[in-house]
Amino acid sequence: MSDRTGIFAGDDPFAIARAWLAEAEKTEPNDPNAIALATVDADGMPNARMVLLKEIEDDAFVFYTNYGSAKARELDGSGKAAFVMHWKSLRRQVRVRGLVTREDGPKADEYFASRSLKSRLGAWASHQSQPLASRAALMAEVAKVTARFGTNPPRPPFWGGYRLTPLEIEFWADGAFRLHDRFVWRRADPGSTWDVRRLNP
Ligand SMILES: Cc1cc2nc3c(=O)[nH]c(=O)nc-3n(C[C@H](O)[C@H](O)[C@H](O)COP(=O)(O)O)c2cc1C
Repeated sequence: MSDRTGIFAGDDPFAIARAWLAEAEKTEPNDPNAIALATVDADGMPNARMVLLKEIEDDAFVFYTNYGSAKARELDGSGKAAFVMHWKSLRRQVRVRGLVTREDGPKADEYFASRSLKSRLGAWASHQSQPLASRAALMAEVAKVTARFGTNPPRPPFWGGYRLTPLEIEFWADGAFRLHDRFVWRRADPGSTWDVRRLNP
């Protein structure tokens, strides 16, 4: 019999992740959906940076970025990524590893359209991860795209989402005397059923 009870209970790891995030939304001072996204470059050199997790789907996690960025090159190159979410206010973390594909269809259009006008124009203006001469050069670029698109900029072709379909999800919660609770959900491929194990802290 499983001793997965309380905050770890349930048969759907995405539902657990959603529930934990909903709790964090009440307790974190800001950006409860911030994730540290890890990738590797062509030489196997790791890289990490924060991005905002925008959706927990039935079988995947979705975030958005610039397709010209370093992370996009690394995501497209390896087709794999990992991320960790840590909520200091809850003393919990969720770790995820899996396969990534681009989300550059209607869902990306819809999300882009939901962003503030300034963010939409900013996406056009920023050549993310490329050298920038000065802050003034960036503001000049913003003025240029504002003149070009006015109040209705379309989603840039170089900006969109990634969908991470996990092969592994680990839920970790702080316990007394450093005896934390850890449960890892693993599957061999996206179609397989999950195997769930409790791990030593
Ligand atoms: C809290 C936080 C949230 C962020 N969210 C995003 C995001 O959703 N998408 C994004 O492209 N960059 C986001 N960034 C900026 C990235 O951390 C990073 O600086 C940028 O994407 C360039 O990374 P790269 O050169 O590895 O591609 C965020 C930064 C912080 C601190």
